[in-house]
Amino acid sequence: MDGLKRQAAARALEEVRDGMKLGLGTGSTAKHFVDLLGEKVRSGMKVVGVPTSEATRAQAEACGIALTTLDEIDHLDLTIDGADEVDHALNLIKGGGGALLREKIVAAASDRMIVIADDSKWVDALGRFPLPIEVIPFGLAATRAAIAKAFAEAGVAGQMVLRTARDGHVFVTDGGHWIIDAHLGRIGDAPRLAGLLSVIPGVVEHGLFIGLAGTVVLAGAQGIRVVERR
Ligand code: A5P
Repeated sequence: MDGLKRQAAARALEEVRDGMKLGLGTGSTAKHFVDLLGEKVRSGMKVVGVPTSEATRAQAEACGIALTTLDEIDHLDLTIDGADEVDHALNLIKGGGGALLREKIVAAASDRMIVIADDSKWVDALGRFPLPIEVIPFGLAATRAAIAKAFAEAGVAGQMVLRTARDGHVFVTDGGHWIIDAHLGRIGDAPRLAGLLSVIPGVVEHGLFIGLAGTVVLAGAQGIRVVERR
């Protein structure tokens, strides 16, 4: 699996040009990309990156990749990131690693987003992977109730689990928020659910990435498949 992730990362690296401003994703697949990009930079390629997490920032710095922020610049040429699930419309579930908020800000500020993944992430319908929903700790019960109402309106249902870290304490995102993982099974209308979740005050962001990915690079046993959004 790790070899496939690296192959997808290597294929996406072919799209990177000298001088580009890049969004750098988070997770085990994006880690390969940052690693390979670091090799290019060390052999002379000039790019500047905006990391989507503190973990990616640390890795990119260690690789010698020049970094900036979306305070200093207001747009990026290309973001390369992993995903937890990708459907045939190239809508995504992201946030398994907890970085969904920065990942979405960075992807939305980019002219183009390329998703890199092994082909186990390619699904007919989103939802088997629990949907991460980043919430403000204040008013959690009220926010959960509003989320449950949104689920009912979107025709989905399932358990909501507050994410905990390995030490058993509640997981805290880079932005200081908490994550609810919603076990929905199958999301029939992901754009509708995304819209309903986005207007809930206690929801900071959710892991449905609708219309953001332009290209998906899928690596499988049969080779690499590149799918463009229609
Ligand atoms: C991080 O918050 C996530 O969105 C990751 O991009 C996603 O979980 C994919 O991670 P892997 O590449 O480790 O599967």
